[in-house]
This record gives sequence, C-alpha cells and structure tokens, in this order.
Amino acid sequence: MTARLKGKVALIIGAARGIGKGIAQRFAEERAQLVLADNEDEAGRATATELGAGFILTDISRMTDAEAAVRLALELHGRLDIVVQNAGIYPWQLIENTSPEDWDRVMGVNLRGCFNAARAALAPMKAQGSGRMLFTSSITGPHVTSPGHGHYGATKAGINGFIRSAALEFAGYGITVNGVEPGNILTEAIQMHRGPTFIKNMEDAIPLGRLGSPRDVANAFLFLASDDASYITGTTIVVDGGQLLPEGADFHLLPP
Ligand SMILES: NC(=O)c1ccc[n+]([C@@H]2O[C@H](COP(=O)([O-])OP(=O)(O)OC[C@H]3O[C@@H](n4cnc5c(N)ncnc54)[C@H](O)[C@@H]3O)[C@@H](O)[C@H]2O)c1
Repeated sequence: MTARLKGKVALIIGAARGIGKGIAQRFAEERAQLVLADNEDEAGRATATELGAGFILTDISRMTDAEAAVRLALELHGRLDIVVQNAGIYPWQLIENTSPEDWDRVMGVNLRGCFNAARAALAPMKAQGSGRMLFTSSITGPHVTSPGHGHYGATKAGINGFIRSAALEFAGYGITVNGVEPGNILTEAIQMHRGPTFIKNMEDAIPLGRLGSPRDVANAFLFLASDDASYITGTTIVVDGGQLLPEGADFHLLPP
C-alpha cells in the first residue's frame, strides 16, 4: 500500500460487484475516500460497508440519479476528484432478435450512463480546476466482436469516441478523460452468462493463458486516476492478456 490516492474523493458507478468492486477495493487500498453507486441496493450497500464507503442507489441511465450521486460525494467529502463510470450490461442477443427497446436499454446504461456521469461531475471538477473522468470501455466494439453483441459493441465503441470529445472539451478546465478496455475478465457475471466451455476456449485464445481478474483492470484505473497519469488524456488502456495480438489461431506454436 502506497496511498497513491490519499486525499482524493472518488465516485465509482457500477461498484457492487465484478470489475467495479475490484476498482473500489484497489482505490480503497490506496486510501481514496469512496462513494459507490449501483442499481443493486443490497449488494451495493454490502460492498460499501466492507470498504467504509458511502453508497447511493443509482440507475446511471437517468441523469437525475447521476446528479444525486455527485451531490452525495460533495455532501460527504466536500469535493470530487475522480469519477469512474463502470456500470454496463451485456445481454447476449442477435441483432435480428433485438427490439428497439432492448437497443435503447443497452445504450441507456452503457453509453448515456457515461454522458450522464461526465455531465454531472463536470461542474464541481470545473470549479476545482481539476478532475479525472474514467470509463470502462471494452475490446469488444472498438477492436473485435462476436455474434450477439451488436448493441453492446456499439456502446463501447461509442464510449471511446465520447472519451476523445470530452477530453478535448474539458482539457482547459484541468480535467482529464480516459478509459480502460478490458478483454475477458473473470467476474461472477461472466461465469453466469458464459459457462465453462466459453471460459476454456477463451483461455486458449489469450496469449497470457488466463482470463483477467478485476484487479488487473483496477490497476489500470488506478494508474489513470493517480498523479502519474496527469499528462494523459483522451485515450484508453487495453487490459486483455494479449488477446488482440494474434493474426490467427496458430500462435501457440513454439519457435523451431
Ligand atoms: N467482465 C468482462 O469480461 C468485461 C470485459 C470488457 C468490459 N467489461 C465492462 O466492465 C464493466 C463491468 O462488467 P462486469 O463484468 O464487472 O459486470 P457486473 O455485472 O459484474 O458488474 C456491473 C455492475 O454495474 C451495475 N449496474 C448495472 N446496471 C446499472 C445501472 N443502470 N446503474 C448503475 N449500476 C448498474 C451492476 O449492478 C453491477 O454491480 C461493464 O461496463 C462491462 O461492459 C467487462
């Protein structure tokens, strides 16, 4: 523990479990003061209690909820240094079976949620003359995809575009805007949605030979939230165990 976030107030949205909980745990280890937001009340409160954090029930697809989460951070701690919008949903759905309502729901949480978080955090960060806005993107959408991710991939590619626009608009206020693109990360949600065969196939497709952990992703967020990243804005870090690298399936071949 090196207290890299000591004195910093961080709001983490989508923090009840999975990657978001991993980010909250990592930030807590580095002494950030935390406010967690999630649309699952019981799990969200349990994580917040475990980490000594504030908690607010939040549906990030709603602007009023995003504003209330920012307000809570300001009420509890008087400032807001870091906002992480990690909440995301990934229902598996072929495009031909996706209704406009399904499409809007995924857009609402994953993409509008990022706009809502940024828009709500902007005023206090602008007044402070500093801030870190961080978003969970994905390799799915910006770089690769698989069937069933039409809406999801569109949101994650959209997040990367939003990161660049927001970084440019907010640079003059001392606010940096960045994201992390996880590959396949072993969370409870992935285990539930995908199953053991998917996970085994994925391990074979990842050069480092394993799925990532929430902590692997959290370490990249920590770097982007820390003072070490003060000159970095408008970009994303890929955390995928090398999954994007192979040109084909033969990468396991050893040199002659
Ligand atoms: N797990 C992976 O392999 C992987 C890979 C790439 C990107 N991601 C992204 O990482 C993020 C977290 O994924 P995860 O695997 O940890 O999933 P998860 O389902 O375990 O966690 C998502 C969290 O967001 C919360 N949430 C969902 N909808 C919300 C809403 N409307 N408002 C507020 N909170 C909401 C959930 O309750 C949960 O706590 C997502 O944005 C996902 O797209 C995950």
